[in-house]
Amino acid sequence: MTQAQLSARISAIAESSTTQLMGLVQQLKAEGKQIISFNAGEPDFNAPEPILQATVKALQAGKTKYGAVPGEPSLREAIAKKVREENGIVAEAANVLIANGSKQILYMIFQALCNPGDEIIVLKPYWVTFPEGIKLAGGVPVFVDTIDHQPDVDAIAAAITRRTKAILVNTPNNPTGAVYSREALMAIGQLAVEKEIHVISDEAYEGLVYDEARHISMASLSPEIADWVITTQTFSKSYCMTGFRVGYLVAAAPVVKAINGMHSHLTGNVCTFAQYGALAALEMDPAIMQQMQQTFQRRLDLAYPLCTELFDCVRPAGAFYLFPDVSRWIGERFADDDALAAHLLKEAHVAVVPGSAFGAPNHLRLSFSTDDASIEKGFAQIKQALS
Ligand SMILES: Cc1ncc(COP(=O)(O)O)c(C=O)c1O
Repeated sequence: MTQAQLSARISAIAESSTTQLMGLVQQLKAEGKQIISFNAGEPDFNAPEPILQATVKALQAGKTKYGAVPGEPSLREAIAKKVREENGIVAEAANVLIANGSKQILYMIFQALCNPGDEIIVLKPYWVTFPEGIKLAGGVPVFVDTIDHQPDVDAIAAAITRRTKAILVNTPNNPTGAVYSREALMAIGQLAVEKEIHVISDEAYEGLVYDEARHISMASLSPEIADWVITTQTFSKSYCMTGFRVGYLVAAAPVVKAINGMHSHLTGNVCTFAQYGALAALEMDPAIMQQMQQTFQRRLDLAYPLCTELFDCVRPAGAFYLFPDVSRWIGERFADDDALAAHLLKEAHVAVVPGSAFGAPNHLRLSFSTDDASIEKGFAQIKQALS
């Protein structure tokens, strides 16, 4: 079949460039090529043993049926406790809704907030899914530049119109690794209260911060601000559970109720036994994940100087990405960041993601979610391919 009558809505959506690239890299590896994956968007560790054991136990105990749409009651309770204690967010189980990763959560938030033509402010560079998810909901992403990867609050204020429904904030940030300061978050929160608009706070990488940085949840700043915040977090990155597809939102009960209605038609509950793996993640010894965080700190310390030998790069404070400015390589030798990334894949056998995918041409995203030897080898091969 070569014909299709697709909607304008779906025709306007581009496939995620990061997942597309992942497919290409997998294909090259299957062909026997030794590719170093600086494109990875997930921890390279397996889910810790207590999570696996709890998941298997849940399977064997028959947790294989449809479950409660907003999530297993025990997991909602545990998440509410976690966000109260670790994030300073005032929440009960009724404020929590569990869905298939924060990708689905974000999709539902955009659908819940946007009437056709409503605007959501998105800071640049942005994670690839934000604009497409907003467009799928009939909304309009309004892009605002950052300064050295930190929010420009005056520019955000200037971008607010009577169609603005929300400001989307992502800290720690993908692709830049920036962790937003308390002052910047407070200023954005106050703006939201004043203008009576929401803040969507994507905290997918909350468990991965480095150096002196601390992750601050927007909804912890004040009760007035919390009223307007929809927080999304996930088990994917902080607990190495990307394939489990368990993420959640924390919001005012009416928002949870409205989104739950949609969730009941879209997917219903998240895979029941996977939720028991998530419960075990919250109950296990925190030292297990602290160890992973220390490993990522060491990798950052290794990768950052190697990166700055070749490119200009703001030091990231969270997630597991370096986002160098590669402008000085663009021009005569490489037409743009896509051409540079293609060259690195072909000649250096290193997969990186072009910055254009994140609305930031002349940049590359390099993930340090790989072992020390691959980090050293990858940068050595990049250096050689550029010489
Ligand atoms: C900023 C950000 N938010 C959300 C997600 C989605 O995570 P998940 O759907 O696995 O919870 C990702 C994944 O790469 C991300 O980078």
